[in-house]
Amino acid sequence: EQRPKQKANEAILLAAEQFVRQTLEREYTGHDWQHIRRVTQTAKAIAREEQANLFVCELAALLHDIADAKLNASEAAGLQKVRSWLEHNNVNPQDTVHVMEIISTMSFKGGGGKAMSTLEGQIVQDADRLDAIGAIGIARTFAYAGAKGHLLHDPNVRPRTEMTEAEYRSGEATAVHHFYEKLLKLKDLMNTAYGKKLADTRHQFMLAYLEQFYAEWDSQC
Ligand code: ADP
Ligand code: NI
Repeated sequence: EQRPKQKANEAILLAAEQFVRQTLEREYTGHDWQHIRRVTQTAKAIAREEQANLFVCELAALLHDIADAKLNASEAAGLQKVRSWLEHNNVNPQDTVHVMEIISTMSFKGGGGKAMSTLEGQIVQDADRLDAIGAIGIARTFAYAGAKGHLLHDPNVRPRTEMTEAEYRSGEATAVHHFYEKLLKLKDLMNTAYGKKLADTRHQFMLAYLEQFYAEWDSQC
């Protein structure tokens, strides 16, 4: 027999899933429903290992891209959308504050991103970062580059970890370059021990991938 609170939480998670599926139905910039599904699954797996609040992790993971500026008039409008959804769905005030804190910290891009202050926030951030690396991360990178009209690779572009807006506009942004700019840095940004373990495996895979990529790029046969 389930306790009423657990039942209520399950209903909230189901409603959140429906809300997210609907909102991201026409989203093709890398934040489609399948991205959300993978991040939510990974967040739950890390949450179990780290003995965190599963409900908050799952709810924040489901909603983490709803406030994205690309989908909303502004970041503030996006966050307001999430807040009203939480209020209309009777999420308790304490969990509402917690989920809002996680989502606002995650959607704050720009330099010097604020650090996650709770374990649950650290877990959802790790799960989102894990989806940007490994086999899936590579696939998303090439899909993104294709959508933007970037090249796969340009051997004249010196790999570096930062790129100025001017370099980016001058066509130096390539799919392979994005590995140096972002993907290879993520392993060291993991918050949780289990997230780091998962990231290490995916990181090794990316290094092997790049090695093979360059070998084929330069093959004379
Ligand atoms: P996030 O999931 O962190 O919100 P973004 O919205 O920045 O990521 O990007 C979505 C996906 O596209 C990610 O997998 C990311 O690595 C990839 N991506 C972002 N910018 C570029 C780029 N300039 N070139 C190639 N891939 C990119
Ligand atoms: Ni995401």
